[in-house]
Amino acid sequence: MSRDISLLVNGEKRLTHTDEDRPLLDVLREDFQLTGCKFGCGEGECGACTVLLDGQPTRSCITSVSEAEGLEIETVEGLARDGALHPVQQAFIDRQAMQCGYCVPGHIMTAVALSRAKPNATRDEIVAAMSEHICRCCNYSRILAAVEQAIG
Ligand code: FES
Ligand code: FES
Repeated sequence: MSRDISLLVNGEKRLTHTDEDRPLLDVLREDFQLTGCKFGCGEGECGACTVLLDGQPTRSCITSVSEAEGLEIETVEGLARDGALHPVQQAFIDRQAMQCGYCVPGHIMTAVALSRAKPNATRDEIVAAMSEHICRCCNYSRILAAVEQAIG
């Protein structure tokens, strides 16, 4: 059923009129032009579409837009403050933790959530959190180094 839907995205109220069962990923990318979150598998397996809902890493490809109503949605576009990248974003640059970069926004959102929940996370905790993501370029060692730099 299509209806007006109001979302809180990166601190701003955004409105759309759409099918309430439509994936949140499609609404963010197509209606709001927030293209940092990516379509990878579309089945909740790869993590490319990860955004934060009330601070929790969430696969937006398998989350309906109506499920996100009333929750705080954060995307990679909302992380920088006053022209400065988030420490996790900066660490990905410092460690050159990207090849094609397709998976990176998803990795970053999970790392940001971990940095808030466990600012002194151990390497094992970092590996466990980041293992939920797939990098088709197999850039895992640099990704882990970046997350360790940001959190450690
Ligand atoms: S595109 Fe959502 S988990 Fe792969
Ligand atoms: S850097 Fe290419 S998919 Fe991860």
